[in-house]
Amino acid sequence: MSGTGTVKPEQTQDNGEKIKTTSEEDIEKKLYESLKKHELPDYLLYTGTGGAKNWLKLDESETFPVARQLKVLLEKNIASIVRFIPTGMSLVSVGVGSGDKERVLLEELIKKNLAEKPASGKVSMRYYPIDISSQLVDVALEKVRDLPLERMGVVGFIEEMPLLKKHWRLPVLFCILGNTFCNYEPEFILQLVYENLEQGDLFFFDANLLPTQGSGEEAQSARKSVLGTYASRENALFNMYPLLQYGMDPDDFDFELLLGHVDSRIGAVYRTRKSLNILKDSKIKIGPETINFREGDIIRMGFTYKYTYNQIIDLLDICGFDVLNSFLSEDRTNAMILAKKRI
Ligand SMILES: C[S@@+](CC[C@H](N)C(=O)[O-])C[C@H]1O[C@@H](n2cnc3c(N)ncnc32)[C@H](O)[C@@H]1O
Repeated sequence: MSGTGTVKPEQTQDNGEKIKTTSEEDIEKKLYESLKKHELPDYLLYTGTGGAKNWLKLDESETFPVARQLKVLLEKNIASIVRFIPTGMSLVSVGVGSGDKERVLLEELIKKNLAEKPASGKVSMRYYPIDISSQLVDVALEKVRDLPLERMGVVGFIEEMPLLKKHWRLPVLFCILGNTFCNYEPEFILQLVYENLEQGDLFFFDANLLPTQGSGEEAQSARKSVLGTYASRENALFNMYPLLQYGMDPDDFDFELLLGHVDSRIGAVYRTRKSLNILKDSKIKIGPETINFREGDIIRMGFTYKYTYNQIIDLLDICGFDVLNSFLSEDRTNAMILAKKRI
């Protein structure tokens, strides 16, 4: 993944600065290049003219409660989480989305900073909301407009963490929230985070889980619920949007979602597999370029891993992280983990 490397700070109406490490034109070019190879990676669902709005709408829909349930878990445990976070850390959140969860964290961290440094009466907290969608960075900045913070939004790819980290002040609480962790190959994302965090930094992420492995009745019903969520009409529309936006007809293709097993260092893990299957010869126009599809073509999309809690803990251990604290919902379907890289 490579951005343009152009870094232009931009003032956003009183909300702080925003730096763009990639532009809308770059993203549209990536959409064209990906579709030419019959691929549609997930980040392209959140970008473009409607991407941010589509995500915010999906996040509110009854059939897609994944990120919302994780916010409930965060709110329930916020006091204990913040107890483990030293004062004076910057909050960096990649794939920030609406920034709702970050607001919950920031309010509590500011309270803690004030309580520990009452003499100065001032809190010097920094917040860096980062996302591939420029509109979502604006939403996240706006969400904390009234908080006493220094803030700088960054539009960029998590894959470019070495470039992103040049903008933040250490030490950081590095967050990946809203189940975004599960959209990456586990060893890729954990290695990326490991290599780019410094000794005093902390790593905080959440995940929507499978409560149990195996083939019993409980496991069957958990599989069904995963399929129900990801194959819902609302989620299907979210995944189909880029093709519709660039002129394809809903009858030209359909959305398919499968749930399979993949082997890994932590044993067999469930992973969704998504595709858009072309039903008719059709074409899409992106700027001056046209891509022709033939009936039977398959456009491969992103995936979501469905781990059990123990699998995530094993992964962290293998990849060199110590767990400082973890929070698991009663039904074992949602977890939040605060970790530190083992030095
Ligand atoms: C599942 S949403 C979660 C949003 C938010 N954290 C929440 O909890 O509601 C994933 C977010 O990651 C962003 N995103 C996707 N791919 C990304 C990438 N490669 N780099 C940075 N952000 C990315 C999307 O734009 C979106 O806001």
